[in-house]
Amino acid sequence: MQGYSGKTAVITGAASGIGLALAARAAKLGMKLVLADIDADRLAEAALGLGLDPGRCCVLRTDVSRDEDVAALARLAFERYGAVHLLCNNAGVALSRVTWEHSLADWQWVLGVNLWSVIHGIRHFLPPMLAQAEGGHVVNTASAAGLVSTPGMAAYNVSKHGVVTLSETLYGELRALNAKVDLSLLCPAWVATGIQASERNRQPQYGQAGEAGEASRAYHERLGTAVKSGRLSADDMAAAVFDAVAAKRFYVIPHRKINNAIKMRLEDILEARNPSQLA
Ligand SMILES: NC(=O)c1ccc[n+]([C@@H]2O[C@H](COP(=O)([O-])OP(=O)(O)OC[C@H]3O[C@@H](n4cnc5c(N)ncnc54)[C@H](O)[C@@H]3O)[C@@H](O)[C@H]2O)c1
Repeated sequence: MQGYSGKTAVITGAASGIGLALAARAAKLGMKLVLADIDADRLAEAALGLGLDPGRCCVLRTDVSRDEDVAALARLAFERYGAVHLLCNNAGVALSRVTWEHSLADWQWVLGVNLWSVIHGIRHFLPPMLAQAEGGHVVNTASAAGLVSTPGMAAYNVSKHGVVTLSETLYGELRALNAKVDLSLLCPAWVATGIQASERNRQPQYGQAGEAGEASRAYHERLGTAVKSGRLSADDMAAAVFDAVAAKRFYVIPHRKINNAIKMRLEDILEARNPSQLA
């Protein structure tokens, strides 16, 4: 995308972490913002913190797992600002459990927020973005967990592998069309955000996560430590995203160390080895 000032960005999961950092960077670049999150109070606070005048920023409480909520978000953005130039499908939640201790509700919650959200985002935003003369850019937030298979987070891994293949498929289609909409895929490793406390936003229909056994509790603790120790910040993720948008780069993998694990997985597949153990 050439030039950001006066253009419109829609960011989901904008009340915290990477989404909030994306919003701050977009605001600094002079963009108009449409910010979405399930946590209406924190979203309002976040928007206030950006210090933009109301003409340049609007918020909508959105449950991104709900098709009708994402449809309403798209309606708001296009009606308010006429076009959407940057769409960040970013909202997400994490859960650590051994695979057999994921309840049905756990699977539905994680796949709904992490994968269906991106499907809804593409369905509702992409056709009008393709139709607008100035084109645009979509950024899907997956994870390193979409490129490797770390134990203890099956639903999360499945959701993020889903976002990766959805995005790779869409990228090929957009390029085949020579479309004016570009696409980037953000795959962070550990970043200190609110992700470890994702249950705070679990929708009531999914109830509480089931009792976690000893192995699940150990994975949960390990996830917490890893997230807290993340060497790169949410701001680093936002900087990497905007660099990629400027360069029209698809893969955005800011933690370069993860390449070793990705390579190991690909070699396991190519050599028909059993999966190497990831910590
Ligand atoms: N933090 C990490 O280590 C890490 C690593 C890889 C990928 N990611 C991905 O980055 C994205 C952002 O996460 P984060 O780390 O900033 O976490 P975060 O918890 O700080 O932010 C996530 C935001 O999503 C919102 N959200 C949760 N459920 C929602 C729903 N149903 N509808 C709308 N909004 C909802 C939350 O309220 C929160 O504001 C996620 O997709 C996550 O999977 C994070």
